[in-house]
Amino acid sequence: MKQEWWKDAVVYQIYPRSFQDSNGDGIGDINGIRMHLDYLKNLGVDVIWLCPVYKSPNADNGYDISDYQDIHPDFGTMEDFDRLLQEVHEHGMKLIMDLVVNHTSDEHPWFRKSSSAEATSYDDYYIWKDRPNNWKSRFQGSAWTYDEKRGQYYLHIYTVKQPDLNWENEAVRRDVYKMMNWWGKKGIDGFRMDVISMISKDQSYADGPVGEHEQFGDGSSMYINGPRVHEFLQEMNREVIQNFDWMTVGEGVGVDTREARLYAGFDRKELNMMFQFEHVEQAKGPLGKWTDRKPDFLRVKEILDRWQTDLEGKAWNSLFVENHDYARSVSTFADDREEYRELSAKMLSIALYMMKGTPYIYQGQELGMTNYHAFSIDELQDVESKNAYQFYVNAGEVSPEEMLKYVNCAGRDNSRTPMQWNTEENAGFTHGTPWLPVNPNYMYLNAEEQIGRTDSVFTFYQQLLAFRKSAPAILWGSYRMIGKEHKQLLAYFRTMGEETYLILCNFSEKEQSTDTLKLRQQTEAQGKAYWKQVLGNYPSGHSVDMLRPYEGVIWKMEKES
Ligand code: GLC
Ligand code: CA
Repeated sequence: MKQEWWKDAVVYQIYPRSFQDSNGDGIGDINGIRMHLDYLKNLGVDVIWLCPVYKSPNADNGYDISDYQDIHPDFGTMEDFDRLLQEVHEHGMKLIMDLVVNHTSDEHPWFRKSSSAEATSYDDYYIWKDRPNNWKSRFQGSAWTYDEKRGQYYLHIYTVKQPDLNWENEAVRRDVYKMMNWWGKKGIDGFRMDVISMISKDQSYADGPVGEHEQFGDGSSMYINGPRVHEFLQEMNREVIQNFDWMTVGEGVGVDTREARLYAGFDRKELNMMFQFEHVEQAKGPLGKWTDRKPDFLRVKEILDRWQTDLEGKAWNSLFVENHDYARSVSTFADDREEYRELSAKMLSIALYMMKGTPYIYQGQELGMTNYHAFSIDELQDVESKNAYQFYVNAGEVSPEEMLKYVNCAGRDNSRTPMQWNTEENAGFTHGTPWLPVNPNYMYLNAEEQIGRTDSVFTFYQQLLAFRKSAPAILWGSYRMIGKEHKQLLAYFRTMGEETYLILCNFSEKEQSTDTLKLRQQTEAQGKAYWKQVLGNYPSGHSVDMLRPYEGVIWKMEKES
């Protein structure tokens, strides 16, 4: 059967501010990206997902857009973008853009007109009310702000500078589709859709149950997976998506597997796949995500297993552990102490990317980049971290020292520090002053050092991605987890026809026996068979009976003749 191209593609996410600065202003830009297309091709990337590069006052680093059809001067010009798109295609890769249409910037002309005292055709482009309800902003405080000019409150689920668009208004939807078609005609290859699960609001605008959701805050159940979200996406599909050979991935904030089958179901004509966040948001403390607790391994296993199983045959998974909104995966899920960093980063890549779905790699993940240790909140830039720091410290809920520890563990700037290219000043990211500090570990942790070194994380990613493409059972086969209760090991099978792989990963720093997995019984059922190592993160292999610290291995079942 001919499969859609986005199913066996490898996606690489670029956070442009932090990727490569080409003109010394300390901010990564489009021409900087153009300098590294060979690097991405060499890694095994098929698709680049570019985080927002549109015109924006940067209240939320580009997720507050003031012109959807223009490029922010920090990043370059539309000509630079056109050149980038052309060169990406010349490299045999594709490019998808970020679509941020739950909200715009308050500096977008639509909002300017909407908030004016005079009546205009933009009056209903946003959500205006005489009285606020109890809905909370995801970045602290009420989700409503009073606008003096208009004399009403507007809704903003994110910062005050990110007013939510009113998707009930057909004119809004038509304008959004028009803009998407414009990009489509330019030749982009699809969109990643920002908080797309929030575009449809419960029209009662009643108070939500108080304390209803530890994570998203009061009111969230009234706008996450709202009443018309699927209708809107099906309309978007008819009006835009089906016009192009695109890939689409929705940011599924608050989406469970049942909902994901609606957003991304094979027969639904909505989106190709969703990002789900259960595994990366598993660690919680009394202040929610602001904690230095580590995720619970058994629960993470359960979550990944459930997504693999529940979507089987019905929808497609996206495989990710890292992006611009979460801390570095090697620091969170593996072990970033130098003796284990490379080993455990490789193990994590096996654990995740041998599952079924489309792999997403976030810039620097392929090097095993780690969290950044800030000594003061003033070193950081992220609006979410800064707001939360202020809020909880002022409220006396936590000491400044404790809160900084939490931010260093869970804050978004951990993954936003500049890409580490080499040992030159600022890791080769910029000749100027970087907008966010460079992680000092770049002196030994950088791309130049890893490219071509046979046992580097980068080289391992190359091998793993190449292997993935060559193994139909990994791309298309069935999936089955074993040893679900095992507290240190992750183990699953991938099977298609005669081809069976066993993926074994040790998430601990202690040697682990595989006895309880009863692997012999598993092979006996298949007649006379034995396991042969295909790829592993240690230089030499050994038997399937035990795993060394942070060992990850892909075994292939071979039949005895
Ligand atoms: C998404 C983006 C995040 C942004 C938010 C609001 O979650 O990934 O960076 O802050 O939407 O647009
Ligand atoms: Ca620049």
